[in-house]
Amino acid sequence: MDTHLTDRVAIVTGGGQGIGEGIAQKLAAEGSHVVVVDQNQATAEAAASRIRALGRKALGFQVDVSSWDQVRTMLDRVVAEFGRVDILVNNAGISPKKDGRKILVHEIEPDQWDLVMAVNLKGVFHCIKAVAPIMMRQRSGRIVSISSQAAKIGFSGPAAGHYAASKAGVSALTRFAAHELAPYGILVNAVAPGTIQTPMRKLTIPELDKLAIAGIPQGRFGTIDEVANAVVFLASDLASYITGEIMDVNGGSVID
Ligand SMILES: NC(=O)c1ccc[n+]([C@@H]2O[C@H](COP(=O)([O-])OP(=O)(O)OC[C@H]3O[C@@H](n4cnc5c(N)ncnc54)[C@H](O)[C@@H]3O)[C@@H](O)[C@H]2O)c1
Repeated sequence: MDTHLTDRVAIVTGGGQGIGEGIAQKLAAEGSHVVVVDQNQATAEAAASRIRALGRKALGFQVDVSSWDQVRTMLDRVVAEFGRVDILVNNAGISPKKDGRKILVHEIEPDQWDLVMAVNLKGVFHCIKAVAPIMMRQRSGRIVSISSQAAKIGFSGPAAGHYAASKAGVSALTRFAAHELAPYGILVNAVAPGTIQTPMRKLTIPELDKLAIAGIPQGRFGTIDEVANAVVFLASDLASYITGEIMDVNGGSVID
């Protein structure tokens, strides 16, 4: 079946590396033009130039999603360049660790808590707030945010409590935005990955990886492609009657 993503305009936050870069590339492979947003200018530019090599339009923007001013300015420039926004993927996120191990809740410093919430949760809010009026005018749009299995269980490898709380917030915000925006033809969903092999993940230590794999019924970590496939599906016409869904992509590690 056709995803009907040809000439759609997509924004992918945290698109410079890891899962975000995989999503950006897959959307481009399906025909979309992609705005790669990342706090790292070099990786954002490099990812955008790989997309241009596929024959699509692509821009790289250095944006810290925790800054409302930077997000709003970026959206103004995207609308000036493309005239519309069809897809927003909220992927930028951080997962602080201590020497590759999890930080316990009582060890989290208040300013570390604030930083994780500012990037992982407020950043998603900023992007939805900025893009919603544009999509409401268009009477169409897709928003897909990256939550995590950590949002719904009491332990998730090296992920810490502030990270889990921020991702639970992403799932809750997804449901509320889905309910409010459906009448405007805007569908809002999330993907909740289990453990995926990415640069974020490589900071952990091998013996903990073995233990983690033992807890995954499919017996392996997920790939960037497997998360990107779910995001592209939710952004596409194949998911035209799905909203407020938090889709697990976790090899069976959490089944509920
Ligand atoms: N890797 C996993 O196992 C896993 C599991 C569940 C959920 N996730 C989520 O998937 C998303 C991507 O994770 P990843 O593993 O690819 O991480 P990653 O660290 O490899 O990539 C994250 C990207 O986000 C960017 N970024 C970080 N803070 C930013 C900010 N303030 N503004 C803009 N960009 C920022 C980084 O520069 C980087 O390019 C994150 O939201 C993460 O929480 C990852």
